[in-house]
Amino acid sequence: MLSRRKFIQACAAGCAAAGGGYTDASRSPEWTELTAAPGSAPLVDTQQQTAVWAYNGTVPGPVLRVAQGQEVRVRLRNRIPIGTTLHWHGIRLTNAMDGVGGLTQAPVSAGDVFEYRFRAPDAGTFWYHPHFRSAEAVARGLYGMLVVEEQAPPDFDRDLPLILDDWLLDDADQIDTARFGNLHDAAHAGRLGNVLTANGKPAPDIGVRRGERLRLRLLNAANARVLTLAFADLAPTLIALDGQPIAARSLSDATLTLAPGQRADVVIDLSLDAGQARELRAVTRGGETPAVRFVGTGSPLRDELLTTPVALPVNPLDGAFSFADRLQVDLVMRGGARGDLSSAVYRGEQMPLRELAQNGQAWALNGQAGMSETPLFSVQRGRTVELRLVNDTRWPHAMHFHGHHVRVAASTRSETAGDWRDTVLLQARETLRVTFVADNPGKWMIHCHMLEHQAAGMATWFEVA
Ligand code: C2O
Ligand code: CU
Repeated sequence: MLSRRKFIQACAAGCAAAGGGYTDASRSPEWTELTAAPGSAPLVDTQQQTAVWAYNGTVPGPVLRVAQGQEVRVRLRNRIPIGTTLHWHGIRLTNAMDGVGGLTQAPVSAGDVFEYRFRAPDAGTFWYHPHFRSAEAVARGLYGMLVVEEQAPPDFDRDLPLILDDWLLDDADQIDTARFGNLHDAAHAGRLGNVLTANGKPAPDIGVRRGERLRLRLLNAANARVLTLAFADLAPTLIALDGQPIAARSLSDATLTLAPGQRADVVIDLSLDAGQARELRAVTRGGETPAVRFVGTGSPLRDELLTTPVALPVNPLDGAFSFADRLQVDLVMRGGARGDLSSAVYRGEQMPLRELAQNGQAWALNGQAGMSETPLFSVQRGRTVELRLVNDTRWPHAMHFHGHHVRVAASTRSETAGDWRDTVLLQARETLRVTFVADNPGKWMIHCHMLEHQAAGMATWFEVA
């Protein structure tokens, strides 16, 4: 049997053909070059090219693999016509490397270069994308996975990134650019697409051998679509969420909900004989769409499926909460279609809804639309923060925290008590409490990861002093 690392090397040569469709960058500690540039990708079928923006010419960008604790060094070159940055979603890194245009750095102008260097403290599944005009940049194809490998990698036969996206294409299979900045979309569910891809392809075939144990690294890179994935009889075991290991659990109804920005690591053991196929599907209101097709191929790897449980080593998260002197903050979301937001502060000015709309704003957090001069709250480093997220709207939202993971205090429809997340899904009218130790100094955003909602007001920040 190939060791996992050998498999990854073998994979770099051969797996793209088997439907991986991504490239694994080398693990060397040297600089990795990432160039954002216009390009094209066969999103719909191999005969048809869609104009995209891509990192190093591929959609998704290369899967970057680094060892836990190792310094990541990435040189970003901007060849797209607008400013850009790289945000390392979910990595608890040093603030200056967080890549938030206008908050932690100036956007990198077209033609310029920016060097990112940081250490990744947690092993797990993370991702990168621009954090400047991200609604447009991500929708055009700029995103990729960052895998931080455990120091002693658990024994899977294959480590398989599955990066899902929901594209809005026109009749000529080109990105619908006319809808960028559309306020109607922004005030409703965001930019919902009409083509689902996994690793840049519609329902790619993934060749698997009988008895193979796969670690799926699932990422929802869509701008706005909440994905519900149906595993049918693939018997999935969930082992990590947003890069943080959990005690292994099976998925009820064999379905998994991933909001934009969220990741899940799932183990499946495949019993397919050569020629047999099983689909992983995305459930939508209109029915089910295949996301990937596992196809039995080659000789069996083993006759009996593995039954040994998988446990990932825990990450160095500070869960030593001090509730006695915690800082309690309410974050109230209001606005959107059929909401009752009548006015909010935008760029320092109280504005009625009509005027907010003229400025492309449709949502407010604690009465403020978009980023404010001063933080939502400031907190002394090391203090426990308890946030009550109140979704006072008729829409779901995926709230993302920078620089920290937060612990879900009580289970809700979408989230489970005790899980550490960097992005939490709130259904319409839902309230969710999360707790974290503010142990990472700097200026950190909290925003909805439905990127049109973020652009239309659902963005704020806090400061750890
Ligand atoms: Cu994945 Cu603030 O973003
Ligand atoms: Cu939202």
